[in-house]
Formats: sequence, C-alpha cells, structure tokens
Amino acid sequence: MALERTLSIIKPDAVAKNVIGEIYSRFEKGGLKVVASKMKHLSRKEAEGFYAVHRERPFFNALVEFMISGPVMIQVLEGEGAIAKNRELMGATNPKDAAAGTIRADFADSIDANAVHGSDAPETAAVEIAYFFASTEIFSR
Ligand code: TYD
Repeated sequence: MALERTLSIIKPDAVAKNVIGEIYSRFEKGGLKVVASKMKHLSRKEAEGFYAVHRERPFFNALVEFMISGPVMIQVLEGEGAIAKNRELMGATNPKDAAAGTIRADFADSIDANAVHGSDAPETAAVEIAYFFASTEIFSR
C-alpha cells in the first residue's frame, strides 16, 4: 500500500464535546500520523468553497451553517493507505449506520452533525489539503 496523506476535520459538534484528544488517539492507534494541524473558525466563504461539490445538494445550506457554527480542528494525516484507513476509523456518514467503535458511532449525533470529515480519494485529498495548508505547514516525519 502507498504512503498517503488525507485531510481530516474534527467538526464543530465534536470540538464542542471536548473530544479532540480522543479522536487524535484513534488516528494514532490506527497507524496515522498527524503531520499538520490548525484550529480555525471557518468563514461562510471558506465552508462554501470547501464543500463546493455539494452545492446543488438539498443539505448544502444546512451543512455550511453547521460547519461555521463553531471552531473546527483541521489536520493532515499521513500513513499507509491513509485515505481509506481514516474513512474506516470515521465510520459511515450516518452515525446510525456506523460500525461500533468508529468515531461517528461514538461521537456523532446525526447525519448532519457527524463529528468528522475525511477525504474520499487521492485527488480530493490533494485539493483539500492545499485548501487549508501551505506545503511549509506540513511536517512529514
Ligand atoms: P458526503 O461526502 O456524502 O459524506 P462523508 O462526509 O462521509 O464523505 O457528505 C458530506 C457531508 O454532508 C456529510 O459528512 C454530512 C453532510 N450530509 C448531510 O447533512 N446530509 C446528507 O444527506 C448527506 C449525504 C450528507
């Protein structure tokens, strides 16, 4: 498997629940390294740009409102097969469908307030990482 990087966001609901450390621990125990991180309160423009692929979806406005409702913790995770590994650790989009022991099963309340974001493919990972981090802010170890 290839060494990959993926963009992860701990969303406002999980930041408010004070579980940043618990979620970082899942990443580390799952073999992923945090190689960049920043806490940020997204502007409406930033949230709309980040989720631009969903612009036509019925949940777009609610998603943007939710993403700007409080600070988020944004990180780049690195590891073998990091994109799929992170999605495995996250669990299904709807926490009702998320496997036991996944981040969403344990910390998400609903499909719209679902604790974490993770890139879904190498192309989107590259775009999403560049959306939030300059290459000088990423520390491969
Ligand atoms: P999506 O990319 O389908 O899921 P994932 O985050 O697992 O990659 O959707 C992006 C986000 O949009 C999702 O995390 C929460 C929100 N969303 C809703 O609020 N309602 C929905 O019906 C869907 C599909 C997504």
